Amino acid sequence: MSTLYESTLRSLPLLGRGKVRDNYAVGNDQLLIVTTDRLSAFDVIMGEPIPNKGRVLNAMANFWFEKLKHVVPNHLTGVAPESVVAPDEVEQVKGRAVVVKRLEPILVEAVVRGYLAGSGWKDYQATGSVCGVQLPPGLQNAQKLPEPIFTPAAKAEMGHHDENITYDEMERRIGTELSATIRDISIRLYKEAAEYAATRGIIIADTKFEFGLDNHGKLYLMDEALTADSSRFWPADQYQAGTNPPSFDKQFVRDWLETQPWKKEPPAPKLPDDVVVKTGEKYQEALERLTGHKLD
Ligand SMILES: Nc1ncnc2c1ncn2[C@@H]1O[C@H](COP(=O)(O)OP(=O)(O)O)[C@@H](O)[C@H]1O
Ligand SMILES: [Mg+2]
Repeated sequence: MSTLYESTLRSLPLLGRGKVRDNYAVGNDQLLIVTTDRLSAFDVIMGEPIPNKGRVLNAMANFWFEKLKHVVPNHLTGVAPESVVAPDEVEQVKGRAVVVKRLEPILVEAVVRGYLAGSGWKDYQATGSVCGVQLPPGLQNAQKLPEPIFTPAAKAEMGHHDENITYDEMERRIGTELSATIRDISIRLYKEAAEYAATRGIIIADTKFEFGLDNHGKLYLMDEALTADSSRFWPADQYQAGTNPPSFDKQFVRDWLETQPWKKEPPAPKLPDDVVVKTGEKYQEALERLTGHKLD
């Protein structure tokens, strides 16, 4: 099976390319989302594809959508991606694409944190809170929080960094009612997922959800869900508060990038082959651990 850095479907109109996924229109009310093997770190797209990453992410998201569909409806339609493209394009979508309801994206990313990590840990050290949520004093790096917290972010335009916002700011942007619904659903999704992942030896330290509305104003979970790109996954057996846990996600690449003289602006440094291979393995290991199944 080949890697795919960028899809080139001619049978459907291309709507846009995100950092990782390419979106095509299927009729007026559906999208074909193709998860490529691109990797973005610090919101910059790396030049090298990561073998199998797209298929791993697609399988992970589908796994969680199925598992959590009783909590909130999701954007999946069940339409086979192979059925909406030309025969010679099937290879580009096989195992890495979904046909979804085309929704109006809510421009607030729903971040839930069960542990202190990354920008949350930095924020806490500086302010004693994370995105305006006050936390008890004396917490360590990677420590489990007393309760998962909801810390929204504003979805940035391509090439910019998502920006953390307070819950009040979220309410100003999308209203109090929708904010509360999204917050409560996100916390529930996180808790159920984290509880399941724990039985598989994985800690979900934090994660990000995206939601959208259909033209009746009905709310759906969309985009990807609980993948190694949208979450921090830590192996539970190596977890220790106070230290940076190893991870099953792109933290491995981030750590390598931090050793490079690079300003986190395009172009990214060229990833060495061993970093590419190791990263691919991390993503696959995450899928296998979580689901108990290897990639088909
Ligand atoms: N059901 C949907 N309806 C409309 N837009 C969607 C849907 N699901 C995902 N998207 C959007 O498609 C894009 C997926 O590409 P991605 O590579 O994740 O982009 P980004 O660089 O914004 O993270 C995102 O902008 C996401 O918000
Ligand atoms: Mg995205």
